[in-house]
Amino acid sequence: MNKEFSNYLLIVLITMIVIPSIASVISQRNNICDTLAFRTSERIDETSSFKNKYKRSKENKTSSEIIYSRNKIVPPFVSVVNPNHNYPIGVLIYDDNSTVKVCTASVINTANGNIGLTAAHCLLDANGNEYNQSLLSFSPGYDNGTKGPLGYIPVVATAIPPTFLNNRFKYDYALMKFEFNDPNGGDATLQDYAGALGWRFDIGDGEPTSVSGYPGSGNFENCPNDYKHLCKWQGITNKCGDFFYVINFLIAGPGSSGGPFISHYDSETNLGYVYALISGYFDSYNASIGSIWDEIDFFNLLLNMTTE
Ligand SMILES: *[C@@H]1O[C@H](CO)[C@@H](O)[C@H](O)[C@H]1NC(C)=O
Ligand SMILES: *[C@@H]1O[C@H](CO)[C@@H](O)[C@H](O)[C@H]1NC(C)=O
Ligand SMILES: *[C@@H]1O[C@H](CO)[C@@H](O)[C@H](O)[C@H]1NC(C)=O
Ligand SMILES: *[C@@H]1O[C@H](CO)[C@@H](O)[C@H](O)[C@H]1NC(C)=O
Ligand SMILES: *[C@@H]1O[C@H](CO)[C@@H](O)[C@H](O)[C@H]1NC(C)=O
Ligand SMILES: *[C@@H]1O[C@H](CO)[C@@H](O)[C@H](O)[C@H]1NC(C)=O
Repeated sequence: MNKEFSNYLLIVLITMIVIPSIASVISQRNNICDTLAFRTSERIDETSSFKNKYKRSKENKTSSEIIYSRNKIVPPFVSVVNPNHNYPIGVLIYDDNSTVKVCTASVINTANGNIGLTAAHCLLDANGNEYNQSLLSFSPGYDNGTKGPLGYIPVVATAIPPTFLNNRFKYDYALMKFEFNDPNGGDATLQDYAGALGWRFDIGDGEPTSVSGYPGSGNFENCPNDYKHLCKWQGITNKCGDFFYVINFLIAGPGSSGGPFISHYDSETNLGYVYALISGYFDSYNASIGSIWDEIDFFNLLLNMTTE
């Protein structure tokens, strides 16, 4: 697990959803937002019993949901250990000795201090079974084929929206808890070392955004596309209804899945506010998408993960 990733000559499987071309049934729809919304509602209808169950449980609000009012904004967290060196983004590697899968993850600011985000599809196989957590590790600050300052950190828990299995496009986000041991023997958390992204739910259409990831292909600028380099895209995202943020003309290849969409990115601190994650590339519209988070769902996942 703690080997250098650069030593691997193993097959890297595609860990990205490539959404196939739209069937002729809906070919009259020519707008990406309409199309995505249509596909989503179609899928939700297929699972009406589950949907109703979910709705009912939302009616009884837990105290945490009441505390966190709508559109909560959590600020970024500056490293305590070295305020001039924040590296919240890293590579997430699954390695079972025959397969290596690469995704992107990032540390977010929480009271727990050891919590990160990635795409849900990075944690589950095609049949919806969760990968063995002990074969997952995270290296924040990983770049140029070299592990980050903290090496590889084990994942000890994951929280995936239960709705993801019913709609792999709409709920493609998940939280992870890391088993972080302070290398200096104290009780500092991962975010005390690496810093952590802020997070928010209030981002609208036309947001100036920075997206980072470790793609193996695609068109991030000046990117070697070898899964080993942290590559960056900067531009404007679009919001499609309540479903997705869309980046037109970005081909976010495999390995960049889970890469954070960062608003108010500050190049000085290397921090900002994450509001979505790369889910996949929509080939028929030449656009990459990220699910819009359900705020209540998100807080339930966080609560579940930090109160165990
Ligand atoms: C919601 O609360 C009501 C009243 O306390 C209770 O009867 C019901 O079973 C609860 N529903 C869920 C889904 O927990
Ligand atoms: C992978 O290989 C290493 C070294 O040969 C071994 O220690 C480890 O247990 C193996 N892991 C799995 C999941 O087979
Ligand atoms: C997960 O992987 C570890 C290390 O290879 C192994 O010991 C354990 O049995 C696996 N757990 C499951 C549920 O497969
Ligand atoms: C990237 O890694 C290569 C090979 O290990 C090394 O030669 C090069 O100096 C590194 N570049 C940077 C910017 O660290
Ligand atoms: C998608 O957009 C990029 C950037 O404009 C362009 O280079 C690429 O050729 C486009 N791909 C397709 C399939 O149209
Ligand atoms: C919380 O975690 C438990 C156990 O892993 C799981 O059964 C439950 O569905 C989770 N709740 C949510 C909201 O994810």
